[in-house]
Parts: sequence; C-alpha cells; structure tokens
Amino acid sequence: MEPVVNPEETAIRIDSHLDGSQERSLAEDVLDGLTRPFKELPPKHFYDARGAELFDRICELPEYYPTRAERAILERTATELAALTNAVELVELGSGTAAKTRVLLDALHAAGTLVRYVPVDVTESMVRDCAETLTEEYPGLRVHGVIGDFERHLDRVPPAIGPRIVAFLGGTVGNFQPGSRRRFLRSIASLLGPEDHLLMGTDLVKDPDVLEAAYDDAEGVTAEFNRNVLRVLNRELGADFDPEDFDHIALFNPEHEWIEMRLRSRREHTTMVRALDLPVSFRAGEEVRTEISAKFTPERLQGDLSAAGLELVRWLTDPEELFALSLSRVVQ
Ligand code: SAH
Ligand code: AVI
Repeated sequence: MEPVVNPEETAIRIDSHLDGSQERSLAEDVLDGLTRPFKELPPKHFYDARGAELFDRICELPEYYPTRAERAILERTATELAALTNAVELVELGSGTAAKTRVLLDALHAAGTLVRYVPVDVTESMVRDCAETLTEEYPGLRVHGVIGDFERHLDRVPPAIGPRIVAFLGGTVGNFQPGSRRRFLRSIASLLGPEDHLLMGTDLVKDPDVLEAAYDDAEGVTAEFNRNVLRVLNRELGADFDPEDFDHIALFNPEHEWIEMRLRSRREHTTMVRALDLPVSFRAGEEVRTEISAKFTPERLQGDLSAAGLELVRWLTDPEELFALSLSRVVQ
C-alpha cells in the first residue's frame, strides 16, 4: 500500500499543544503533591532545557547503562525490525534528542520504506531541534513534531500514513505508577491499527547495587537532575527553594522492584510557592519522591501488555540482560 502523504505538506510541521497548560499542570501537581503527608512530584517536570541537557549527560555516565544497552540492542536488531514492520512512519513518545532513534531511522531508510517521523515530547526545544537536524540528515524525510504531554495529548498524534512503529524508548514507561502505566499502554494501543507495532524499551530487574549506582553517579549529575525540579518550581511558580537544602536520594525498593528518587530536606524550613500563595513546610529529613523507575521481568511486561490488549511479537535483550526491547501489536 502506498503511504498516504499530502504533497502540499512541507518537510517540517510542528504542532504545540501546551499554550500555558504545562504551567497549569505543574501548579496542579504542586498543589496535589506537596500538600500531602508523603510529598511527591511527577517526573515530567524535570525536563526543561537544563533538565534535558542533564539527562543527556546522564546517558553518557559510566554508571548509567540503560542507554548503551538499548542502543546495542537496536544496532543488532534494527534491520530485522524494519523488515518485520514495513513501517513508513515512526512515532516516538518522549523522543528527547532522538539520539538512538537514528539507528531505527537508518534501518527504515535502508529498507526504502521511511516517509515520516513524528516526535512527541513535552520539551519544545527538543522537538524543534530534532525536526531541523533530522530533515537535514535524511533528505526527503517529513517530520511532524508534536509538542505536548503524552499523558494528555496522544489524540493529537496525526493519523497514520501507512504501517507505523510507535516507539517508547529509554525505559520511560517505568516512570509511570503501575496503575497509570497500564492505562497509558491502553491509550498507546488505541493508536495502533492492525499493521502497526509498539516498540518499547524496559529496564530489567538486576543487582540493586548496579541499579542504585546508575541513579546516584559519582559525578553527581543525577543529583543535579533531581534538584532541577526545584529550579523549575522557582522559575515557573515563583517558589523560593534553595536546591542545596536538599540531598539526592536513590534507593531500590525490593517490594515494588523500582528505583525511587527522592529529595531529602537537610533542615526544617518553609518555602513559599508564590504563584499559588502556598507555604510548604519541611521537617529536617523529610523527603519528596520525585521519580519512580520501575524495573521489569519478562512476566511483568507480558502482564502489562496483555492488560492493554497487546501481544508480544519479539523480546530482544543485550547479552548481559540489562535491558529489553519488546515489539508488540494489538491482539488480532
Ligand atoms: N527517549 C529518549 C529520552 C528519554 S528521557 C531516550 O531514550 O533517551 C524522557 C523524555 O520524555 C524526555 O525527553 C522528556 O521531555 C519526555 N517526557 C517525560 N514526560 C513526558 C510527558 N508526560 N509527555 C511528553 N514527554 C515527556
Ligand atoms: C527517562 N527515564 C527512563 C530515566 C530513568 O532511568 O528512569 C530518567 C532518569 N532518572 C534518573 N536518571 C535517569
């Protein structure tokens, strides 16, 4: 089947769905998360331009193996994935700088099927930058960027132009709470037609020392990434956090098999969130949970996929079984 492309469409189209709604969502998350007995903030607020840069540095750290492991799996299997899917388009959720994505784009390009790339990310600069660079790197490629929150704007992903891969790489699915993870997978499944596939990266359960080192590196880059959410609150909501009032904590929770990142207050103090007229008090040692990063077994992933109406087509890992890529499709 020929891809359904509009010849009038330019190489780059960018749609933004944020228009101040991200600030509203931040305010709601602060009102909800910092007024509870166990304080919590969702991880999507890490990623302003500085947070995105810190995340890129994390990916280069010797302790942070997921990016290298996932890239190695992609390099080994991209040609097979291209042949299995015949994809004319790649939709990528939480695309970031699309660094590893190029391995897939190369394989689809070599197979002669690639027409369009659809990056979806909450960080505007990353969607715009990668649209510019990828259209230069892949002559003829169309990029339809979607700046938005994938939890709220999945319905804004443009209709498919032919067989598509929806990629959700990096283990970002592990950053959802288990209940919302399954809900989210169901909404991804609703983007998939009978010819489409979900390609998802998941970090695997392993030695807690290896996991904790990956989230508490010697150079302190992850600690800065974690504290960055406080800088976002200062800038966006007029809060007066001193990031140095908080220690970075990363612990493996063996019951849930996830890493938890927290910020632990070094002293008793009260911070004012001016835009909300909200004083937030911290006891010395009190913690705010800022991220969970769930680790998977094949059984956990199978359970999540089937709860979302998806079936596994391929399970691909690296030789050390640090990380896995799964290719799945809607149960036919
Ligand atoms: N896929 C890349 C980047 C992972 S970092 C990789 O594998 O290296 C997570 C990415 O998801 C960031 O670019 C961040 O901006 C984006 N992100 C996090 N929460 C999001 C949300 N709710 N909606 C859209 N993008 C989100
Ligand atoms: C984006 N996400 C999959 C990363 C992770 O490993 O959970 C974010 C991160 N947090 C600390 N280091 C990296």
